[in-house]
Amino acid sequence: MTSPLTSPIRWPAEALWEALAPSLPGFTVEVLPEIDSSNTELMRRFRGSPGTPPRAEPVLLVAEQQTAGRGRLGRSWQSRRGDSLTFSLGLPLQPADWSGLSLVAGISVAESLDPGGTGNAGDTSQPRIGLKWPNDLWLCGPQGNSKLAGILVETASWDGIRYVVIGIGINIRAIELPAPPPLSAAMPAMAAIPPGCLQDLLPDVDAPEALLRILPPLVQAVQAFEQFGFAPFQARFAARDVLSGRAVQLSDGTQGTAHGASETGALLVHTATGMKEITSAEVSVRPLADTAPAAVANPMKDAGPC
Ligand code: BTN
Repeated sequence: MTSPLTSPIRWPAEALWEALAPSLPGFTVEVLPEIDSSNTELMRRFRGSPGTPPRAEPVLLVAEQQTAGRGRLGRSWQSRRGDSLTFSLGLPLQPADWSGLSLVAGISVAESLDPGGTGNAGDTSQPRIGLKWPNDLWLCGPQGNSKLAGILVETASWDGIRYVVIGIGINIRAIELPAPPPLSAAMPAMAAIPPGCLQDLLPDVDAPEALLRILPPLVQAVQAFEQFGFAPFQARFAARDVLSGRAVQLSDGTQGTAHGASETGALLVHTATGMKEITSAEVSVRPLADTAPAAVANPMKDAGPC
């Protein structure tokens, strides 16, 4: 197994602050060596505690190590210092409609890390970054597709202030995962599925460099979303949509064919009873061809094209 990074990590805190403070008054950058979860911490700060008023300032919290990283639908998110980039951006936000925000974050991250990615759609010989509704980034390449990153968007409100925390976890460097224990004597242990990692696409990009590339455009995208909603992003999502045209199954058992995202960011699925708009954050969706285990922390691999 590759060994964890022990040397200090040089985060571009000052460069990020200089780039973002003009558009985010009161912005701060904080790096913590260890925390349970950067999302949990920012939600705690916003909610405040007895004697500590809620804090609704814009903040970037980078966690070098999370001990209880969280994913969507109550799943856990595992990462290792230096091999992953784990951070949360918290800021007050007042969009007219919140739907589509996690798609916007995904679009922005994918475009920052893979700006030419839409140019080779359909060409599986080169890796590119695709988006799986509603919050996954996939690395799609000749070896198949694997989960590269996940996004967890959470909101809270207090005294008329609405605060959003956008948590992003990206696999930067490959880690060999130990094989999971066998499910039963009759079912031998499966080989662990390696996650997609950014260095398969950008070998020289480490976690600090990835953060520097991602954050300024992410803030711009979130502010554009606040003003104009998801509609202006719809075509950009479509250019990287890995589910489009594929047979999918929803977590409630419904099957159909994915038809992209609507103007409000809902997943359109053509089912036996007609077109359905999937908006619920509680719904998960997977391509029917995918037979890998669904645990998000074990990013899934899929044989189909992006
Ligand atoms: C998912 O794939 O379900 C979302 C994963 C989100 C993980 C990131 S890592 C930084 C932030 N802190 C967390 O506890 N979760 C998010």
